Amino acid sequence: MDQSRHQELVAKANQFIEAHHNEVNKQSYPHYHLAPRYGWINDPNGFCYALGKYHIFYQFYPYDAKWGPMHWGHATSTDLIHWQHELVALAPSEDYDRDGCFSGSAIEHDGKLYLIYTGHKVLVEAGDDSIAREVQALAVSTDGVHFEKLGVVIEPEDEGIHNFRDPKVWKDETGLFHVVFGATNLKHEGEIRQYTSHDLMHWELVSVIKEMEDNAFMYECPDFFEVNDHKWVLATSPMGQAPVGYNRQNPSVNSWQSGSFDGKSFTPDTKLYEVDHGHDFYATQSTSTPDGRRIVLAWMNMWKLPFLNYSHHWCGALTLPREITYKNGHLYQAPVKEAQSLRLSEHHVDAADSTLKSTFKTLTSNAATELQFSFKPDENSAEQYGIAIGNSIRLFVDRQTKTLTLFRLDLNATSYRALPIAWDQEHKLQIFIDNSSIEVFIDDGHDTMTSNFFGTDHTVSLYATNGQAEFKGLTVYDLERPLFGA
Ligand code: FRU
Repeated sequence: MDQSRHQELVAKANQFIEAHHNEVNKQSYPHYHLAPRYGWINDPNGFCYALGKYHIFYQFYPYDAKWGPMHWGHATSTDLIHWQHELVALAPSEDYDRDGCFSGSAIEHDGKLYLIYTGHKVLVEAGDDSIAREVQALAVSTDGVHFEKLGVVIEPEDEGIHNFRDPKVWKDETGLFHVVFGATNLKHEGEIRQYTSHDLMHWELVSVIKEMEDNAFMYECPDFFEVNDHKWVLATSPMGQAPVGYNRQNPSVNSWQSGSFDGKSFTPDTKLYEVDHGHDFYATQSTSTPDGRRIVLAWMNMWKLPFLNYSHHWCGALTLPREITYKNGHLYQAPVKEAQSLRLSEHHVDAADSTLKSTFKTLTSNAATELQFSFKPDENSAEQYGIAIGNSIRLFVDRQTKTLTLFRLDLNATSYRALPIAWDQEHKLQIFIDNSSIEVFIDDGHDTMTSNFFGTDHTVSLYATNGQAEFKGLTVYDLERPLFGA
């Protein structure tokens, strides 16, 4: 294959970013979450440890802060927290990926780094992405930075299949490669397919590991991996499922379930449940670390919910990497232990100062902050208590609905998400605030809530309305800002 057009388009994107990244408005720019130097990002792609370091790629439109023909951006790290921006890895250049190099994954093989991604070609007028030809394609790099395209490796068996994307690759202990990806079959039902290969070039359909459930017409970005106790976890981003109670309130939902896998069929032993209960969390991708941990991260935005205004010249960030553990039939996610290296200072607030009665108290105005505290709902009389960030966020325990609620108050983005909590148990919160985002880890990651906000007042306060509340063991950390000036 002639690589020159691809190289030309990658160089063009790199030059554009270099020439324009100083124009980015940093007002809402993350201090320690990975975001683009310029332009738009969505899904994390190609998350792996390869050639001696961690790599994260992402869906990337380098020319504007809006979704456009997808490139793959790239960053590397040795500790999952301090990232270095790398050159653009992929640009749409061939007929089969002319409208975008869509999501996919990466794997090291024979000392080289391979990317398997979806080539997206719109079949009707440009801009209507619903009628497209999608194929899985391969690219390879020997230095982990410059990639050569190797062409199409999996095609749909019928031209009537338009959703056929987001391959996630792994290698089993026999050396056989597997991918799973999502498709909409000819009956308009979502399914997740599994293919295998001995050389990454030639693939064979082995099975459909998930069929449509609750009207999901497509499963975007599936991920499938083994955890302890021989359990397997299927993580998916189903499209088309209706909200149920406090669940699935987002336009697209990230969910996972555990079960057993015999090489062909996945037999779930749990229902699909939501990975995160905030507004902005989608398209998870996981990898395993050299020391055997399973780490997941996600795009910290949501289709069809408000985005940062494109006049800022950047949009989108990735969540903190989270370690997954499987305990008592439940998947926990906690910030990776390396996140502690961000802490610059630690401040313990004593009990007298962390017990509030119908009042509001400023805690910090640092836009890069970690907070920890516990509370026992049945010991507190306040109607509502929690933290406020400027006029943008209220994260509170609500006595009437018995929920932990994350309320975004920004004009044009006003909306809340809520999570029912046990009333007679102590709960622990670990909260990361980063200029325009909040990530909340509840009870050591039993649940999480992740949302963006748009206001510019970062003052973090505690409050209790109409009654008393105790924020036990309250600790405030000022965090480093490694990515702000990158
Ligand atoms: C999920 C998704 C993927 C697709 C990519 C395109 O957010 O729609 O299915 O590959 O984004 O950018």
